[in-house]
Amino acid sequence: MTADALYRKNFEQENNRSLLSGINATSMVDTPITIPVVIHILYNSDEQNVSDEEIQSQIDVLNEDFAANNASSLDVPLDWINLITDSKIRFKLAQRDPAGNNSSGVIRVSSAISEYPIFDPAIYSSLLGGSDAWPRSKYLNIWVCRLEGNALGYANFPGSSANQDGVVINYKAFGRNGIAKAPYNFGRTCTHEIGHWLILSHIWGDDNNDCSASDFPITLQAIDDTPNQEGPTFRCQRFPELDNCSATSPGIMYMNFMDYTDDKCMMFFTPGQIFRMRTTMNGIRDSLKISNGHVLPNLYNSDIAIDSVLNPVRIAAKLCLDPVVRIQNNGSATVSAFSILYGLQAGLQKTFQWTGTLLPGASTQVTLPTIGVNAGSQVMEFRIIGSDDVLVNNYISAGFKVNNASTSNCSGGNLFAYPNPVTSQQGICIKSQNKQSQLSWVRVYNALGQLTSEKRMMVNPGDGIPIDLTDFRGGVYFINVEGDLYSESVRFIYIPGENPTAGPENCN
Ligand code: ARG
Ligand code: ZN
Ligand code: CA
Repeated sequence: MTADALYRKNFEQENNRSLLSGINATSMVDTPITIPVVIHILYNSDEQNVSDEEIQSQIDVLNEDFAANNASSLDVPLDWINLITDSKIRFKLAQRDPAGNNSSGVIRVSSAISEYPIFDPAIYSSLLGGSDAWPRSKYLNIWVCRLEGNALGYANFPGSSANQDGVVINYKAFGRNGIAKAPYNFGRTCTHEIGHWLILSHIWGDDNNDCSASDFPITLQAIDDTPNQEGPTFRCQRFPELDNCSATSPGIMYMNFMDYTDDKCMMFFTPGQIFRMRTTMNGIRDSLKISNGHVLPNLYNSDIAIDSVLNPVRIAAKLCLDPVVRIQNNGSATVSAFSILYGLQAGLQKTFQWTGTLLPGASTQVTLPTIGVNAGSQVMEFRIIGSDDVLVNNYISAGFKVNNASTSNCSGGNLFAYPNPVTSQQGICIKSQNKQSQLSWVRVYNALGQLTSEKRMMVNPGDGIPIDLTDFRGGVYFINVEGDLYSESVRFIYIPGENPTAGPENCN
């Protein structure tokens, strides 16, 4: 929407500034960064008064896209799949205003202006019918309003004036689904504009359609991992797409968030782009890293929160993994113990007890004991159990996919089912990797949690135990082994085959 030349000039200026300050070297330190966000809704009709749900959907999209957790990232062409990276940059609605009072992070202004031209100073001014920016040192300002000429959105760079710093998004391109209009209905205009706000240029380098400039001018060119590209790409394309600057396969990276394709066809940022955004976060925007704008001002005594899931994220290559979550003490009292209940969605859960010292405001990464998962797409859930006055932040889920698993099972402390999926009604085998024998209840539950069979038996280390599936319907089941030493579960899928052949009489 904005002249290429202007973007380019600003980028180079900011780029030089960051490089000169020498913050580059530390910019890839992978600490998660959470940016507090304030949303200014400027409305002239009910439709423009975007709902809280729609706002939350936009925050969700940002967190998925910046974590490379977005569904469309699964469609990145094979040539670039290794470039898909979690930026470790996250977004949260503000919970306190600049004065330190409670806030929802959303400001709603009823305005007489039915449509704003881009860069209209009125957008940023409560006197002129808009809404004043909150300090850019502590918040990312996002204005949502109707923009003239159906412009989707635009961004102001770190170097622009303080009262206009942030991004502006057309209400029709804001949020996922809801009132957002196709093909700009997956919230990616905001992802793209925040890319600009963190000093990313367009994927084609904003160089007036020639092939001379990459989108990483000057020194950062050394880590340029985006192909040269002539100009913007629109709509959705089929791989590979070639142009005069990248004339052979894999061609141009039209599915990058910084191109102009439709929302549903935008897929990822490259490590080079992430490096650049993190350089900005560690440079000119570094005050945001210590902002408390997203933290509730009125501290409860006890409030443990799950901040984020660091593993599994997006894709796992193993059938057994060690989940990692980040736990934050939002309360005013020191936390010395809590437990985390975790497991696959609708499955039986494992528990982990944490003890230690977590000071008010501090966070810690917790690596949980190995858990077995199955091939394919699934969701892992985590819940904190402890003495806690605020329960809304105690749960988190992570969708991920197990691709080309390199291990068939986990070693130690886990229960496996094989073959999985199973097609024979003669049954499936389970094996416990535990080191101790125990007299156990071996129970099978269906996906609704109803008990379908149960047996009392001795479970010895490494024994293959057959489970009969006669009279079972096709579907998802859980097997639980429970004795007084340990309790473990595994999920399996039963897809009845046409010719039920040899069952697992011999489970080895
Ligand atoms: N034209 C705008 C810009 O250059 C936004 C483009 C966003 N594209 C989209 N598919 N949402 O900043
Ligand atoms: Zn742009
Ligand atoms: Ca809590």
